[in-house]
Amino acid sequence: MISELKEKLLKLSDEITNSISLCKDLNDLENIRINSLGKKGTITSYLKNLREYDEVSKKEIGALINDIKDKVNNLILEKKSFFKTQILNEKLITEKIDVTLTPYENETGSLHPLSRTIEELCAIFADMGFSIVEGPDIETDYYNFTALNIPYEHPARQEHDTFYLHPDENGNRKVLRTHTSPVQIRTMEKIDLENFDEIRYIIPGRTYRSDHDATHSPMFHQCEGLVLGKNINMGHLKGCLIEFCRTYFNEENLPVRFRPSYFPFTEPSAEVDIGCKKEKDGSLSIGSGEDWLEILGSGMVHPRVLQGVGIDPSKYQGFAFGMGLERLTMLKYGIPDLRPFYDSDLRWLKHYGFVPVDNPSLHSGLNGVFS
Ligand code: PHE
Repeated sequence: MISELKEKLLKLSDEITNSISLCKDLNDLENIRINSLGKKGTITSYLKNLREYDEVSKKEIGALINDIKDKVNNLILEKKSFFKTQILNEKLITEKIDVTLTPYENETGSLHPLSRTIEELCAIFADMGFSIVEGPDIETDYYNFTALNIPYEHPARQEHDTFYLHPDENGNRKVLRTHTSPVQIRTMEKIDLENFDEIRYIIPGRTYRSDHDATHSPMFHQCEGLVLGKNINMGHLKGCLIEFCRTYFNEENLPVRFRPSYFPFTEPSAEVDIGCKKEKDGSLSIGSGEDWLEILGSGMVHPRVLQGVGIDPSKYQGFAFGMGLERLTMLKYGIPDLRPFYDSDLRWLKHYGFVPVDNPSLHSGLNGVFS
């Protein structure tokens, strides 16, 4: 059984090595990376299945998979730098600089789409009485997991694809926060229970998970929401989130569905879907239609989470929600690929209508190219 598996792994390694050596360009190479090392990649799936084996085989097979992973990773890096050098050399030959050419004027940029989304969210929730708080990107294990009812052995930890920092002298490893939920804990810890009535906060910020493809980036943004008070119930959660979805997508009658779900830190939990129609050409129109699209996670704050920060769950209840901001932005503006969000390319911004093409004469050097 083990030797069969080893054979399969070695065969897989050979196949990937072969496809890397045959691949023609950076795109091809990126596909190979996603198909082998990505979240649903072939090598990753072997790693995920490891738990099926006994301790001895687990060690042996785990080491082999990791060797293959390192090898494939190195080959991909090597090939990438090969392609980059090739591209540079081609450019050096074809792009000669004409020093007599009049320089382009500086182009006017505009707010990044994500900054816009964050501003919009802040405005929508401010109208509902929310204030904004932020928290650190580098978190302790306690805030990112344990205090959110995700103890050390909890399977939810594996789903987060966490980036761990090097352990400190006491062996504690900090993490890059995998969600904005740790700021819920930090916020609740600061509550002065003597003078406390209700809080409403949203928490926008950067989050990190080891995942990279057209719809996932290792660094991305989330916005968390937290409402806590004496008589908060699921009805408030629903009202608040329906209002948010309809305002953000600018659709008065947007269908909103609450689907039972599971998060360790909320009980009950619900995922929120909005109505949409998936067209035959793959495009999406938001609004009524027979399809549903997941937008965010939510739920009533788990009593154990409240107890953990010294709040009595028989006196106070709350609800929380969390959403991915890249996803919200992509859906609103019909952007299919997330990677260009971080390229700072004005052409991309312009293509999606984010940069006003104010005075065409300013862009004379680029006229016709981007229109
Ligand atoms: N933290 C969850 C995630 O990243 C989202 C969430 C936040 C769910 C708050 C429920 C309540 O997937």
